[in-house]
Parts: sequence; structure tokens; C-alpha cells
Amino acid sequence: PAITFIHSDGRSDRVDVSDGESAMQAATRQGLDGILAECGGNAMCATCHVYVDDGWLSRLPAMAGDEDALLDGAAAERRPASRLSCQIKVTPELDGLVLRLPERQV
Ligand code: FES
Repeated sequence: PAITFIHSDGRSDRVDVSDGESAMQAATRQGLDGILAECGGNAMCATCHVYVDDGWLSRLPAMAGDEDALLDGAAAERRPASRLSCQIKVTPELDGLVLRLPERQV
């Protein structure tokens, strides 16, 4: 599958993702700025915060409690579409997913 990240300045990057890889892993592998992922994907840092684009949120599995709690401490404003990209496992059904990057992660 491939997913698209839209930066806060409007640039976009389309990234190929291996089946089962997280959106954060795909972004950091590509060296995308905008995702820091300081904790390496362990749901401990909230520096992989993204806003899921319209229409996609309901197609993602529900978030776990630790993700929900961490998002409250994200550097950028938390919105209804906020998720941690390290907790989004990209499956073939999510091909075409669009994630918007917040203005800052720290
Ligand atoms: Fe740290 Fe996602 S990488 S919470």
C-alpha cells in the first residue's frame, strides 16, 4: 500500500508502506520531516502526531487508552482526527490513506 503525508505548508509526500508497517515507520524510513517519533513507536512520546484526513478516520481501528492519553499531551492542538502514526498499522485496505502533519511535534 501507499499513503500520503501532507505537510503543514501544503507539500505532500507519497510513501510506499510494507504490509503491516506503521505509518510512522514508513515516514521515518523516507526521512520525512514532520514526524519525529522520539520513542521509536512505543506510544510514549506523541511526536508522531497526525491528523487523519476526512473519510479515513472511521476506517482505522479504534485507538487504545494509552494513545488517547498521550494525544492530550501532543505539542500541536489535539483535534477529533488526531492519532499517533506509530499506532496506525497500514494494511492493504488502507491504501491511499492521507495523513496531515501538524505544525509542530515538540
Ligand atoms: Fe512515540 Fe509514536 S513514536 S508515540
